Amino acid sequence: MHEVVKALQAELSLRPVIADDLPVFFAQQLEPEAIFMAAFTAKDPSDRAAFDDHWRRILADPTIIIRAVVLDGQIAGSVLSYEEEGQPEVSYWLGKAFWGKGVATRALAEFLARHNPKRPIYARVAADNLASRRVLEKCGFTVIGEGRGFANARSAEIDELLLELTASA
Ligand SMILES: CC(C)(COP(=O)(O)OP(=O)(O)OC[C@H]1O[C@@H](n2cnc3c(N)ncnc32)[C@H](O)[C@@H]1OP(=O)(O)O)[C@@H](O)C(=O)NCCC(=O)NCCS
Repeated sequence: MHEVVKALQAELSLRPVIADDLPVFFAQQLEPEAIFMAAFTAKDPSDRAAFDDHWRRILADPTIIIRAVVLDGQIAGSVLSYEEEGQPEVSYWLGKAFWGKGVATRALAEFLARHNPKRPIYARVAADNLASRRVLEKCGFTVIGEGRGFANARSAEIDELLLELTASA
């Protein structure tokens, strides 16, 4: 059966993150193509101690909601929301093997519906991360601003877009 059709039929669930997810997330955030796309990454994604510290902090923070994305029993990635200057923002990351099958769109839509009902809610993407921008737009976000930000993965300032999902979208 075609891969995309299989993914559409695959069972997707969001569940709290467990310790066994972390080595998988670590490997997923080491994928060079993903790092380039996301652009606004950790300074050194290969630094396991910094990764563990970061996850320890975010899992302990009550203002951050994080779910593991599980597709047919496999850990596909993560989706989360956090507060930036009092405003909620979402982000997500999938392992490359799971790309191009609608998984991020399904995961984000489910996360927004069940785990973070706050609106407006925001997201930021590198302007050239077209796949991520598309995911957000399919979930009802619209571009409301643009700016420049320093992207560790590119060692340069790059264009960034701010997107918003309003209550009515
Ligand atoms: C961005 C990411 C989450 C997308 O996940 P995904 O499961 O492949 O996304 P979906 O399949 O749900 O949707 C992707 C959409 O982008 C489109 N797309 C993919 N690559 C594209 C490109 N280069 N140009 C334009 N559109 C593109 C797809 O066609 C699809 O749209 P469609 O349904 O209208 O055809 C995944 O690639 C990822 O985790 N990347 C690394 C981390 C990252 O960038 N996170 C986001 C930080 S803001």
